[in-house]
Amino acid sequence: MTQLDTARFQSTDRYIAYLETTEGKLRLDLGWMNLREFLPATTGRALDVGSGTGPFAFRLAELGFTVDLLDTSDAMLAIAREQADSRELSRRTSFHLGDGRSLSDLFEPASFDVVVCHNVIEYQDEPLAVLRGLAHVLKKDGESVVSVLVRNRYGEVLKAAIKSNDSTLAESVLTADTVLESLYGEPVRVFDPADLRIMMERAGLQVVA
Ligand SMILES: C[S@@+](CC[C@H](N)C(=O)[O-])C[C@H]1O[C@@H](n2cnc3c(N)ncnc32)[C@H](O)[C@@H]1O
Repeated sequence: MTQLDTARFQSTDRYIAYLETTEGKLRLDLGWMNLREFLPATTGRALDVGSGTGPFAFRLAELGFTVDLLDTSDAMLAIAREQADSRELSRRTSFHLGDGRSLSDLFEPASFDVVVCHNVIEYQDEPLAVLRGLAHVLKKDGESVVSVLVRNRYGEVLKAAIKSNDSTLAESVLTADTVLESLYGEPVRVFDPADLRIMMERAGLQVVA
């Protein structure tokens, strides 16, 4: 594969440990708070693209959504399956080993009320292609919603300046295409919020927040 190789996600230990850190819990809770505000009034069908072990998918399932989890890592999906069993969510969850870049081959158009894609497009060579796929499988009823979470350039600048106390690094992140992620020490794409907004609109998604 390419520079943004997703093979790193065959190893699950570091990601699982990260979910238990304060930073990891904050990411989940803040992402969930933002999404909850925009969920459709009635529960329906949801898709989690690049679900990992399913932390967001299970919150949707607990609310009553029927959730499809899609991931390219069978190791992540195996853990997600175990967790669904232990949380008694198996009836409301199904698991697909597959690529978020091929959503239109995997699912019928306009089939989901909620589509979640959290911290996934920063690992893709063509993020816009993934966003187009999200738009393709989303219902067009004015109520359905896509939630996209990415690595924000300005968050990374602050992280370099404050957490790493490295002003040279902070300055370079202002214009860099990628940064080294702390989890696997490999490159990951960073996004300017304004660029992401434009990309989402080009994919046919109306940005509401
Ligand atoms: C950083 S983890 C995020 C997991 C989860 N979305 C979350 O927010 O906790 C990225 C996940 O996306 C998966 N992934 C990366 N590229 C993918 C692709 N093209 N299609 C489907 N899954 C992908 C990886 O295997 C990994 O499980």
